[in-house]
Amino acid sequence: MRDRLLAAEKVKAIEWRDGALYLLDQRDLPFEENWIACTHVAAVAEAIRSGAVRGAPAIGISAAYGIVLAARDREAEGGDWHGALEADFALLGDAGPAVVDLAWALERMRDRLGRLKGHAEPLAVLEAEALAIHESDREANLTMAQLGVDLIRKHQGNAQAILTHCNTGALATGGFGTALGVIRGAYIEGMVERVYADETRPWLQGSRLTAWELAKEGIPVTLNADSAAAHIMKTKGVTWVVVGAERIAANGDVANKIGTYQLAVCAMHHGVRFMVVAPSSAIDLSLANGDDFPIEEQGGEALLDVGGKRLDAAVDVFDPGFDVTPADLIDVIVTEKGIIERPDTAKIAQLMCRKRLH
Ligand code: MRU
Repeated sequence: MRDRLLAAEKVKAIEWRDGALYLLDQRDLPFEENWIACTHVAAVAEAIRSGAVRGAPAIGISAAYGIVLAARDREAEGGDWHGALEADFALLGDAGPAVVDLAWALERMRDRLGRLKGHAEPLAVLEAEALAIHESDREANLTMAQLGVDLIRKHQGNAQAILTHCNTGALATGGFGTALGVIRGAYIEGMVERVYADETRPWLQGSRLTAWELAKEGIPVTLNADSAAAHIMKTKGVTWVVVGAERIAANGDVANKIGTYQLAVCAMHHGVRFMVVAPSSAIDLSLANGDDFPIEEQGGEALLDVGGKRLDAAVDVFDPGFDVTPADLIDVIVTEKGIIERPDTAKIAQLMCRKRLH
């Protein structure tokens, strides 16, 4: 399956070329494919802040390359450039404060920086570290795809529909996707007839990104309003809901794009299995459970925009970006270190002690 996934690859959103970072601007998709060339750290921070690059793993990888760009500029300035780089770590960290993959990637770059010890070519070492973070995300995607496909095969066999939410594909990662990587793999293995993609209001990652990605690879995709999900589970032969995770707490609670929680509730009611696919870097052991996950509120602009006209009525809007799915609604979490069925604190702790499977 690995070779066939590699051969089918059509979408890439992050490229490091000739010492610059190129990001496919996700705000313009699917209507235009515009690339942002980042040659300085400020451009990377802005791309993260503005949503030009999105998806937790993609944000982490971009930030790692951002540190390479920053180091190049700081070293050219001379003096204590290691110390000066702290401001760039802060700039990137502040661009996505709730994204644990971002903090994880920055910490890994900081650790490598701390171990340079008068290395003759420090910039080359940092560049190699960022490339390794990128490559290991691609490898993790492939491992998770295989594990997820094995689970689907074990539980149901062929001919089924899968429902997904938000965008967790090539656009959101360094490779093939987390949840969407599993879905791609399952399609390649002939185990999926159709993918239902929630439009994912209010930012519409489903209609703008997931439908575009799947259609580009010729995978049958049906776009649906988020509010149609329960009806689809009841009437369209959905056997799995497969989603990604923004962050996973120590007890297995999963924070993900707003709308994920209601899918898990509906899946439980309809006997549909619920799979979360995320690299272990999304697991945050400092959060005992999902209660402390910071749920940022968006401005509500998308909700107030009704057919291009702004709703002026005196109404308040409630526009959270994420929600938390309790662990007891989750059948399985798939990571590159292995799977956890019926997640709980002990199983998550055990998984974190394991090595990667590849
Ligand atoms: O706001 P977004 O589009 O970055 O939200 C993305 C999600 O919620 C994803 O499910 C998560 O980051 C995992 S992407 C592989």
